[in-house]
Amino acid sequence: MTSTLLFNIGQLVTNDPQHDGTKLGVINDAALLIEDGVVAWAGPNADAPTHHIKRKIDAHGKAVIPGFVDSHTHMIFAGDRSKEFRARMLGESYTAGGIAHTVEQTRSASDEALTNNAKSLLNEAYSSGTTTIECKSGYGLTVEDERRSLEIAQSFTEETTFLGAHVVPVEYKKNPKDYVDLVTGPMLDAVLPYSKWIDVFCDKGAFSVDDARTILKAGMAKGLQPRLHANQLQEGQGVRLGVELDVASVDHVSHLSEKDIEALSTSNTVATLLPGAEFSTRSAYPDVRPLLEASITVALASDCNPGSSYTTNMPFIIAIAVREMHFSPELALWSATMGGAKALRRDDIGHLFEGARANFSILSADSYIHLAYRPGVNLIEQVWRDGLQIK
Ligand code: NIG
Ligand code: FE
Repeated sequence: MTSTLLFNIGQLVTNDPQHDGTKLGVINDAALLIEDGVVAWAGPNADAPTHHIKRKIDAHGKAVIPGFVDSHTHMIFAGDRSKEFRARMLGESYTAGGIAHTVEQTRSASDEALTNNAKSLLNEAYSSGTTTIECKSGYGLTVEDERRSLEIAQSFTEETTFLGAHVVPVEYKKNPKDYVDLVTGPMLDAVLPYSKWIDVFCDKGAFSVDDARTILKAGMAKGLQPRLHANQLQEGQGVRLGVELDVASVDHVSHLSEKDIEALSTSNTVATLLPGAEFSTRSAYPDVRPLLEASITVALASDCNPGSSYTTNMPFIIAIAVREMHFSPELALWSATMGGAKALRRDDIGHLFEGARANFSILSADSYIHLAYRPGVNLIEQVWRDGLQIK
């Protein structure tokens, strides 16, 4: 057995309410015992076990938080869209139309180029404190390009999502129903071995609610679990479709009606907010308060993609959520850790309960509040994943 004791932690965030009666489960002057890659014990420094410890690490009074669970990314692509971003910042508005540009570049990239790009984004994410990452396809949009995108995604994460229904590719614009048949037929079969989830971009310029229902049901019939991009660009029936199908998460949800809030409040579906997209498309940020008042579980994720949110940095997402969306610093941290885990229906990550995977970061600050209080400053000093230091 390999035991590591992290001691002298100024503030340990566990997300286990038994410690202090709050969602964050904070222990001040704490220690954390890790055995074989999982949390064996968390408690006050003074009560830390002293026997059979192989390694002791002094946290020097700094804060320790669970690793971020980034439950929504699109990391398999080639090229970038910096010119499109520039035009937007000069006044143009965002449409889903730019996706076609990335599709073109992704199709002509080699497997090696796609893998290397994803790896470098993954390394960025790890070094900013993310320890679990979901990754979607959706820039291939042919049977083979979706298949290889998911094969690459599966080589670095178990949370892989088939998003063949991202947009209708140009060659199917005249007969979009044929594309739905392709996605629900040969494409679905080809990606099955590499996919855990199925997702649809259900919005203006992408797929209708009826097509989204057909596509999600086809995936579910083959054993994939559903999640959904909904209500990013406008109000619609997407969120309610998500609830109808008990999807793990409806994502973006920037335009919510009272009916949507009501439907979510009695469901098991998490609302995942992606403020990087509002930032990069210069759109209005949604307000988290109506979701909170309705006791809806909220997650925060990066939406890392080359069009609408080209960032892997979860502390940045937390800072925007606090500044612009009325998250408290504690809710923002919870949503980026435990919320993400719930959006992936995982109970082994996103917290530091006994038995959890030992995924955490040591901050170069004595409180998690600094994540939002010191925006743009790299406060992630060390990152540990499954009990091993990766930064
Ligand atoms: O989640 N909303 C759909 N897809 C991506 C954007 C993709 C792109 O613009 O390339 C998103 O924001
Ligand atoms: Fe997305």
